[in-house]
Amino acid sequence: MTREPGDLPLPTRRPDQPEAVATFEGPGGVHRDQVMPMKPSPAVQTAPPQPVWTDRAARFYAQGMDRSDYGAQAAAALLAALGRPASLLDLGAGAGHPARGWVPSDSPWFAVEPNRYLRARLGRLSRTSHPALHPLNAVWQELPPLPPVDVAFCANIPGTLEAPEALLGLMRFAATRAVAWIVPAQRGPKRWCLSGALPTSLHGEEERPAVAGVLAALGPKRQPSRSAIFPWSFAARFASPTEAFAHCAAQLDLPPGDPRRAALADHLAQALRPLPEGGFELTAPKLSALLIWNLA
Ligand SMILES: C[S@@+](CC[C@H](N)C(=O)[O-])C[C@H]1O[C@@H](n2cnc3c(N)ncnc32)[C@H](O)[C@@H]1O
Repeated sequence: MTREPGDLPLPTRRPDQPEAVATFEGPGGVHRDQVMPMKPSPAVQTAPPQPVWTDRAARFYAQGMDRSDYGAQAAAALLAALGRPASLLDLGAGAGHPARGWVPSDSPWFAVEPNRYLRARLGRLSRTSHPALHPLNAVWQELPPLPPVDVAFCANIPGTLEAPEALLGLMRFAATRAVAWIVPAQRGPKRWCLSGALPTSLHGEEERPAVAGVLAALGPKRQPSRSAIFPWSFAARFASPTEAFAHCAAQLDLPPGDPRRAALADHLAQALRPLPEGGFELTAPKLSALLIWNLA
C-alpha cells in the first residue's frame, strides 16, 4: 500500500534513516546551526520522532489544501481567537496554509517542517509574501534553540494524538502569550485525507472525533482555556475517474478480485464531480477544533 497523507500518525522511523538535522532556511539559503538569541528547548521524552512524508504524498496533501477552504477557515478562526501573532512558532507547518493568512508579513514565523517539498513551499512564501518566515528542517521532538515567541501553534500534526502532554509542555515553554492547536474534530474516518469521501462500508475506520481522544489524553489538569470549531472540506483533483479509483484502491489496500473494488467504482461514479477546466474533484467534509491555552 502506498501511504498518502492523512490526519493519523505515520509509521516510526527506520533505524537506517538519518536523524533530522536542524537547519534554518531563509531567503538567502540554508544556514546550518544559525546562531540566534535563543532559549534551548527542554528535552522531550517521547517515542522516537516519526519519519516525514514522501515528497509525492506531501505534494498530494498541499495541492489538495490549495484547492480547499481550509487555509481561509483556519486563519479566520485563529484571527478571531488570538488576533495577529507578534511572532509564531509553527510545528509541522506543512505548506503554511493555516498560518499564512493570519501571521503579519513582518512577524517572525518559525516554521518547523521536516518534509523537503513542504519546506520548499515555505521557502517560496518567505521570498514573496512573508519575508520574516524561517523554514526549519527539524521535528518537534528535536528542536534547535529558538527565541521565545508570542504564540506557539501546530495544526494536524501526529504529536497532538501521540504525545499530547509532551507537545503541550514544549509549546508552553516556547510561547509567552498562548499555545494553539488545530485538531481533527469530524465524526468520521481520519487515516487519510479523502477517506471521509467514502462510506463506512468502504473505509472501515472507527469514526470517533480525534479531538475527543486528544482531550481525554491531556487529562483534567491540561484542558485548553477555550476552543472553537470550524468546518471545511478537503478537495483533491484527479485527471480521470481511473486515477481517482487507483488512488483510493491503493489507500484502502484493495487487492485484485476484492469485492469492494466494484463498490468503490460505483461510489466514485456518484461522488466524482467533473470540473469545467477538465479533470474530476473528490471532496471530504471536515471539522476542525481550535484549542487555545492562555499563558499570559
Ligand atoms: C497533516 S500535515 C499538517 C500541515 C499543516 N500544519 C496544516 O495544517 O496544513 C502534518 C505535518 O506534520 C509534519 N510532521 C510530521 N511529523 C512531524 C514531527 N515529528 N515534527 C514536526 N512536524 C512533523 C508533516 O511533515 C506534515 O507537514
